[in-house]
Amino acid sequence: MIKVAMMVGSLRKESLTLKLGEFLKNRYSDKLDVEIVNIDVPLYNGDIDNDADRPASVTTLFNQVKDADAVFMVTPEYNNSTSGVLKNAIDWVSRSPYLNNKPGLIAAQSMGMTGGARGYLALHEILNRIPMMLLPGNDILLPASHTKFAEDGSINDEGTVKFIDGVIENFITYYNKVK
Ligand SMILES: Cc1cc2nc3c(=O)[nH]c(=O)nc-3n(C[C@H](O)[C@H](O)[C@H](O)COP(=O)(O)O)c2cc1C
Repeated sequence: MIKVAMMVGSLRKESLTLKLGEFLKNRYSDKLDVEIVNIDVPLYNGDIDNDADRPASVTTLFNQVKDADAVFMVTPEYNNSTSGVLKNAIDWVSRSPYLNNKPGLIAAQSMGMTGGARGYLALHEILNRIPMMLLPGNDILLPASHTKFAEDGSINDEGTVKFIDGVIENFITYYNKVK
């Protein structure tokens, strides 16, 4: 079982990004032990970036990332980019060594037909700065996401589910090679 810390880039209760994250958590629960971590943390401020002043929520986030075997990030697309919420959490965690050499996977969604591709690419660009080990060549992009989720959280599009199954299989193979 691979222990995954999942960062979801929207704080909204009915978030479609969260729905995608929960789909990944539930569908692959026999292979991945996914914990959706709280990234509702204060804005990064260098003045509180020290052991005495660091917010407790940030220390918790550090520990959750540290204890995970892998990190998944799921992003919405905001103004052609990833969300500020997710970028802020990444800025905090990048001040620790815990993302370094961590196998990772990113996924995006949007209600439009691009599937959040620009949010995905912006997130990819940010993570290029951090020595994570992102699964190459596999993109989870969910277009028209508001039409895709059934009441029980499953995705009602067989082709998409098959594709995501393949990406997760590829991630597990990759994880076992790089770990
Ligand atoms: C500030 C803001 C900017 C947005 N910019 C884009 C965008 O550039 N491209 C896009 O496809 N959708 C855009 N959207 C729509 C979001 O992708 C959509 O609301 C999505 O459902 C938000 O994710 P969530 O459901 O996880 O909260 C934007 C929404 C907000 C609130």
